[in-house]
Amino acid sequence: AYHVDTSNVSEVSDWACKRGATLTHCNEKFTEALELLQNHAELRNEASDYSRALAFRRASCVLKSLPFALTDVQQLIGYKDIGEHVRKVLADILDYGSSPEVEEIRNSEWFHKMKLFTNVFGVGPAIAKSWIDKGWQSIADVRLAGSISKDWRISWGLAFYEDLLTPVTVQEAEAFETLIRTEMKKISPLSIVTVTGGFRRGKSNGHDIDILMTHPDEGAESNILSKLMGALNKCDLVLKGYFTKNTFSSEMLSDDSKKGLRSHFDHFEKWIGICKFPKSFQTDRKLQSVRDSSTTLPESAQQLSHYSGTIQHQDVLPSEHVNISADNTMSPCSKHTFKTDDKQKSLTLKRERTEMLEDSSPKSKRFKYEDLSEKEVISLANSDRNWTARRVDLIVSPYSQYYYALVGWTGSKHFNRDIRLYAQKVLGLRLTSHGLFDMKKGEALPASCEEEVFRHLQLPYRDPTERNC
Ligand code: GTP
Ligand code: MN
Ligand code: MN
Repeated sequence: AYHVDTSNVSEVSDWACKRGATLTHCNEKFTEALELLQNHAELRNEASDYSRALAFRRASCVLKSLPFALTDVQQLIGYKDIGEHVRKVLADILDYGSSPEVEEIRNSEWFHKMKLFTNVFGVGPAIAKSWIDKGWQSIADVRLAGSISKDWRISWGLAFYEDLLTPVTVQEAEAFETLIRTEMKKISPLSIVTVTGGFRRGKSNGHDIDILMTHPDEGAESNILSKLMGALNKCDLVLKGYFTKNTFSSEMLSDDSKKGLRSHFDHFEKWIGICKFPKSFQTDRKLQSVRDSSTTLPESAQQLSHYSGTIQHQDVLPSEHVNISADNTMSPCSKHTFKTDDKQKSLTLKRERTEMLEDSSPKSKRFKYEDLSEKEVISLANSDRNWTARRVDLIVSPYSQYYYALVGWTGSKHFNRDIRLYAQKVLGLRLTSHGLFDMKKGEALPASCEEEVFRHLQLPYRDPTERNC
């Protein structure tokens, strides 16, 4: 026997949200295999598969946070998230270069088809299984069948399958972000626009683009989304999507039995859909994001960051404004307060309030492609076009919930799952995208920056790039 260094074991937390995980790490060969097993369990979606999937993900997260490349399973002694099954998989990879279990799944036709079909927008494991049961092997088979679903997401998802499967690039995300900022500047200059999701965590591509918006004047955020969508429609960028209203109410907090806050879904106003991204989004250097160029901000971004104080910069340069003093008093957020001249701000607010009243007519706004028939959607997809269809999530949060929404919509999904469970088990608090709640005292713990969310949770602050659990 040889000596295995386990000195680091006692220092490593059981919680992924405490450890953090970056996009790249030195155990990718192992985490790729474990996440394939996770994915397989999720697709099977039978009785015990959810907890199996979770167990694989937890184990993968341990490996992501190891400061060394695994060379011996003994190095994992003491980690509660590494069970017998995982240990066997890792030992196989270490001993033979691959795990038979993993390779069998990787080469299985069922797994291949399930992945193929669940990649269609709107298709989950149940529908994918029913397609396999029909004997369909490929997207072409499904397309041939025609009219297979009343769900518009599936008809659009099938028609634009190739577009939507091609990853959204950072260039496209930044071009779209710039466009949204420019439009929002016209609609509501004080509004705050942030790209969240994988891009905020530093990913170089993604399956969609997630944008969170708010307005520093509580309540004024409620009309920005329909206006924004109207503006995007005018630019002919909206293909198809759906609005959900804000259904959050504080009564949900006191009622434990309500499914609402227990579920990981939130209750924000949002638009989930598919947009046209002109091909120029992929190359246009004029549409550079504030992210690349803090000195030469595009005009719209400059205006916005002027109006909204340091908030914009905080979103762009998360670490620069963290300013936790030695005695840990509440100074970090004093830096985030609005610098804007109060008089000017109140004038702008007044104008926006008036506009809001003028705009309160019933919404019969129709988008250009909203009512296309299935055939028309297919011919649109097959037409000669200079744009790509892209999945877009636009979320609107009241400012009082904004920093919790930011954490929730930045993810990763597993980071959220872990930090929420941690809040519940360790602190007895309920964390959602709407806030942090002490159910016993009937209190909410407000936060005026992301750092404060972590402070309430008694966790070290994690930069978005360290939330890739
Ligand atoms: P890619 O889009 O594939 O790059 O990954 P992503 O991490 O951006 O995933 P996704 O766009 O699916 O979700 C972004 C973040 O928003 C994740 O952390 C999700 O947990 C979160 N999210 C997605 N949908 C919802 C939802 O309905 N409610 C809440 N609260 N969060 C959601
Ligand atoms: Mn995303
Ligand atoms: Mn999304």
